[in-house]
Amino acid sequence: MRVVLGVGGGIAAYKSAELVRALQQQGHAVQVVMTQAARQFIQPLTFAALTGRKVIEGLFSEASPEETLSSAVEHIAVAQEHDALAVAPATADLLAKFAHGLADDFLSTLYLAFTGHVVLAPAMNNAMWEHPATQENVAKLRARGCRIVEPEEGWLACGSIGPGRLANPVAIAQEIDLLGIQKKDLEGETVLITAGPTQEPLDPVRYVSNRSSGKMGYAIAEAAARRGAKVVLVSGPVNLAAPRNIETIQVRTAQEMRKAVMEHLKQATIIIKSAAVADYYASEVPKQKLKKTATRLSIELDPTPDILAEIGQSKGDRLLVGFAAETQNLIEEARRKMNSKKCDMLVANYVNQDGIGFESDRNEVEILSRSGEIAHAGPADKIEIAEKILDQIATLRLSLHAADARA
Ligand code: PMT
Repeated sequence: MRVVLGVGGGIAAYKSAELVRALQQQGHAVQVVMTQAARQFIQPLTFAALTGRKVIEGLFSEASPEETLSSAVEHIAVAQEHDALAVAPATADLLAKFAHGLADDFLSTLYLAFTGHVVLAPAMNNAMWEHPATQENVAKLRARGCRIVEPEEGWLACGSIGPGRLANPVAIAQEIDLLGIQKKDLEGETVLITAGPTQEPLDPVRYVSNRSSGKMGYAIAEAAARRGAKVVLVSGPVNLAAPRNIETIQVRTAQEMRKAVMEHLKQATIIIKSAAVADYYASEVPKQKLKKTATRLSIELDPTPDILAEIGQSKGDRLLVGFAAETQNLIEEARRKMNSKKCDMLVANYVNQDGIGFESDRNEVEILSRSGEIAHAGPADKIEIAEKILDQIATLRLSLHAADARA
């Protein structure tokens, strides 16, 4: 693989030299980009000597106008020519820039222009790492598909003990190396995915909804795209950026979600319904805000269309994957839903346990197949859970194709 290694300004910058070596030993070509702050900790000459390439240091050259012009567009060329962008050490400042889309130096500009794999290895003081601002930035980047190689616990350069030390360069190199064997087992498939909640209005200012953040569905959409599928994502209202290079249709209500799904159903070969669709809606929404009174308020709600069940009725040879969010009797409820909605596979998760399910970055699921098999995944990051779900889908797809060929 062709790897761009971004080196941030932290005491761990010297370990990036070891990372260059480890990547080279795995057969990867490395181009180093240093921030100005990184140069306070290590000389570009070290990386130039190791890689045999000029280290990229600034967005604008201080030399001739011609050089300035060529370096001003260099970040686009570098972005296009490389398969992976790794940043080690990724400082709190770099994480914040990436998370918020600031582009005031070569590395942050390169990050925005980069469409390949991104691996970030943070390193900083433990209090900085644990600060909610840093954790929010990391969660944002993770949700966008960046791989985070978590810092290790231990003695830090500042004298404190805690998480913040750059991960072992060999472990970072292994994480980058794994990207090179990215499966492309969904090439030729068109995957239609629903994600997030729906909002059902009660009046012009109120609605019925649920706690779905969309993280699970977005992680599956991004993983499916990485594995070569064409992806269409139908999303309820969430606070996540639309994934790059994925057709994303924003909807609000169950009716709107149904319409968007039905419009894209024909082209889909795999349908994954991870959205938490509201089961009830108010069919008559008053034009004016409901007034508060001293008496009890009753609102009549009607069932929403069951999109999954409707697809199940006429799915043909499409592979249909449902989800089940349960608070008890997980497997029995999941099996009942899989059969009644005619799904080929159903992903079941408990949604009353802390740290998994709704809103969290992590999940734990049971993946049920029509054949009766149950695969367990997690507890793990939703990105990893997404990969496990797609592994099961790809395997089932293969066995169905093989059965078709035999018939
Ligand atoms: O979004 P996150 O915060 O990351 O959380 C992820 C998740 C918990 C929402 C997700 O993993 C999950 O479980 N999604 C399904 C939630 C759900 O609505 O489950 P259900 O058991 O109520 O519905 C069963 C299936 O029918 C689901 O595939 C659902 O999309 C579908 N359905 C339900 C009702 C309806 N009117 N139409 C539907 O298509």
